[in-house]
Amino acid sequence: MQHDDTTAAGIDGGVPVPGAWPADMTLIPDWIYTDPGIYEREKDRIFLGPHWNYVGLECEAPNPGDYFRSYVGPFPVVVARDEDGEIHVFENRCAHRGVEFCRAYRGSGERFICPYHNWTYNLRGDLVAVPFRRGVRGRGGAPAGFDMAAHGLAKFRVARRGGVIFATASDEVEPLEDYLGPGILKEFDATFDGGEMRLLGVHRNLVRSNWKLYQENLKDPYHATLLHTYLTTFGLFVTANETNIPTDARGRHGGLLTRRPEGRPEVTEEEQSDMQAFRAAMELNDPRVLDFVREFESGWSASVLTIFPTLTALRQTNILNTRLLVPRGPDTFMMVWTVFGRAGDDDEMVRHRLRQNNIFGPAGFLGIEDNEALAFLQQGVRRSRPGYGLAMLGDDGEPVDTMITERAIRGMYRYYREVMNLR
Ligand code: FES
Ligand code: FE2
Repeated sequence: MQHDDTTAAGIDGGVPVPGAWPADMTLIPDWIYTDPGIYEREKDRIFLGPHWNYVGLECEAPNPGDYFRSYVGPFPVVVARDEDGEIHVFENRCAHRGVEFCRAYRGSGERFICPYHNWTYNLRGDLVAVPFRRGVRGRGGAPAGFDMAAHGLAKFRVARRGGVIFATASDEVEPLEDYLGPGILKEFDATFDGGEMRLLGVHRNLVRSNWKLYQENLKDPYHATLLHTYLTTFGLFVTANETNIPTDARGRHGGLLTRRPEGRPEVTEEEQSDMQAFRAAMELNDPRVLDFVREFESGWSASVLTIFPTLTALRQTNILNTRLLVPRGPDTFMMVWTVFGRAGDDDEMVRHRLRQNNIFGPAGFLGIEDNEALAFLQQGVRRSRPGYGLAMLGDDGEPVDTMITERAIRGMYRYYREVMNLR
C-alpha cells in the first residue's frame, strides 16, 4: 500500500508496515485500522508490551475462591482471588495442550480442572495435579524429571487501585500510579475512591470496528453534541457545559469531564443550528432516568476516562461502569460493560442506577449511535480507496476547556505511533 505523501513502505523487525506515518498527527492513516500486520504488532508492542491492561473490578471476585474470565488485549485470562485474598491473573490456556479451560464467566471454587485431560490448577495458576502422571503399572506417564512447578499457567503481574484490577506481561512497565500520571490519577481516584463497590451486572456486545476507534470516540467530545440526541436534548452534554479534557503527559490516557446545569439546558438558537441532534420538543416518558443524586467528591457531573490501551471508566450522573475493549482482529472488537454501584446503596438507588444504565449498551439510548457510527467508519476505511482521516480541530496546548477539539485523539496517536514504531 502506498500513499501520496509518504515514503515507501517500510520493513521493521521483520513485520511489514504498510506505510510510514507522516509526522503530521492531524492525518491518521486508514491502515492502522485495517492491516493484519499492524494488528499482530499491537499484540506484541501494546497488549503484551509495557502497559497496564484493565481486567476487571475486585467486586467481581469479592471472596476467596471467586474467579471470573477476562482478557488482556485479545488474550483470554482468568482473574482469581486466592485463599489469602490476593488477586491472580493467568492465561485461560491449559499448559498441557492449550484448552481454554475456564468456561464459566464467573464462579467460585478451589481449583480449575481442564476438561480435556483433567490437568488441575490452583487459584494462583500453579499446576497441582496431572492424572496418570506416573503412568499405569509402570508404563507411560510423564517423563521421570517432569517438574510440576515448571508447567503452571502463564501468569501476569497484577496491580490494584481503588478496587480496579490491572495486569501486565511486562517487567518494564512503571508502577500503575506513574503509568496513569498525576492528573488522570486524580480523576481516577475521584470515581474509584476506595469505597466498597457492588457488581450490578455485565453485558457484552460486538462492534464491527477497530478497537482504537472506540477509544477515539470517547476522546472526541465534538461528536457527542452532534450525534447523540439524548445527551444534548436532556442537557447531559451540550457545548455550553463547563468542560475539561485533560490528558497525561504522554498523551495516551485522557479524560472528558463535564458539569451539567440543573434541569434542561439553555441552548441558544445559534448553538441549536449547529447541534443537529438537539430536539427541543422531545420528552422522556420516564424522566427519573435523568435524576442525579450527588455522591462523589468531584465538581464534575460526568467523568469519562480512557486509560490506554483498553479501559474506559465512566461516571455519568449516577451511572458507574467500566468498558473493556477486547480486540477480535483489526475489524471487530467485543465490549464488556461492567455496571456497578456502591455497597451502601439501598434498593431504590440500585433501581435508579440500573434505570440510568439504559442509556448504554447495544440498544441503549445513545450507545447504539456510537456503535453504528464506528461500524460505518470501519466500512469507509476498509472499502474505499486508501486515505487518511483528519483530526485537526482545536489546539495542542493549553487551555483544555473546550469540547470542540480533537487534541486527545492526536495525543493518543502520537504515543501509539511511537510505541508501534511506525515512523
Ligand atoms: Fe488441558 Fe490436556 S489440554 S489437560
Ligand atoms: Fe458517543
